Amino acid sequence: MDIGDNLFYNGDCVEGMRRHVPDGSVDLIVTDPPYGIGGDMLHKHYHRDERFVVHGYVEVPKARYGDFTHRWIREAARVLRPSGQIYIVSGYTNLFHVLDALREVGLREINHIIWKYNFGVYTTRKYISSHYHILYYEKPGGRRARRTFNHACIFGPTEKGQDGSSLNYRDREDVWVINREYKPGKEKNKNELPTALLMKMVLYSSDVGDLVCDPFLGGFSTARVAVGLGRRFVGFELSDGIFSRRVREMEGVPVGGLLKSLRRPKGKAPRNERRKWTFAERTALVRNYNRSRKRGLSKAMAMRQLEKEFGRGRFAILNALAREGL
Ligand SMILES: C[S@@+](CC[C@H](N)C(=O)[O-])C[C@H]1O[C@@H](n2cnc3c(N)ncnc32)[C@H](O)[C@@H]1O
Repeated sequence: MDIGDNLFYNGDCVEGMRRHVPDGSVDLIVTDPPYGIGGDMLHKHYHRDERFVVHGYVEVPKARYGDFTHRWIREAARVLRPSGQIYIVSGYTNLFHVLDALREVGLREINHIIWKYNFGVYTTRKYISSHYHILYYEKPGGRRARRTFNHACIFGPTEKGQDGSSLNYRDREDVWVINREYKPGKEKNKNELPTALLMKMVLYSSDVGDLVCDPFLGGFSTARVAVGLGRRFVGFELSDGIFSRRVREMEGVPVGGLLKSLRRPKGKAPRNERRKWTFAERTALVRNYNRSRKRGLSKAMAMRQLEKEFGRGRFAILNALAREGL
């Protein structure tokens, strides 16, 4: 079904990608495949009101999970452009199949992210499970097109929290604490992903107008966020019941509607950020650092001076000094 520039298919994603998505056409895949642990029985694990959960979730039998994972990840790798990226949300039970398939098709790890999440499960004879894995990979071979990573899309490079630490640094650490959304009395899919989590992945790893794909639409949460952020979208859902119920909602999602509500990062990047250090700069850095320390400045004060003088961030200065053995 076409809605604006966006395409939604009710059917198997492997067959669907083969038929409808050309090689190298997708900039970003964000997806949450079935977990192979009885997703259709998730209500036994979660304490929640099942009356509002949309039924029809298609689970993959455990015995077929490895083969199923290799097949869809092979298609995902084909449709990604060189330097295109993929985020796969996975539990730990079948994580080894996902890691194996990613390696087999030659996608390259960027980060292995831990998403700390309030499952709502309760155990008394072992630790309480409270995380998912997010495998963040890219397709190699993009000499001309660099990987899109908008490193200051949420917090500016110099923004500090109340304790003086860098908000930008904290937001880019690979452990994410984002809680599930409570939507009492509203329809939801089984394990629907939170909007804040999806916005983070789409904002950092794509630009307005890019093509985003989710092979496992479920509650269409990735689609709503991607279209809301002005990206183009293509997605698949095997369940007739879920698809017909949720696809209609897409007509009411304004293209780019979420862009207005985005936080504006404050502050400017240091003037020489990302510029390669020249030999003369490295020599001057060492000289000025040693001079400041001899004058009795603390390391922190010397660093602040050097940041201004060389137009670089704290970590760039620290790394450059470390390379010079200081
Ligand atoms: C974990 S859910 C996705 C949840 C979704 N991210 C959300 O936030 O609502 C996985 C979905 O994949 C669907 N599915 C299972 N096998 C599929 C296949 N071969 N092709 C497309 N969709 C499939 C299931 O019906 C289920 O809705």
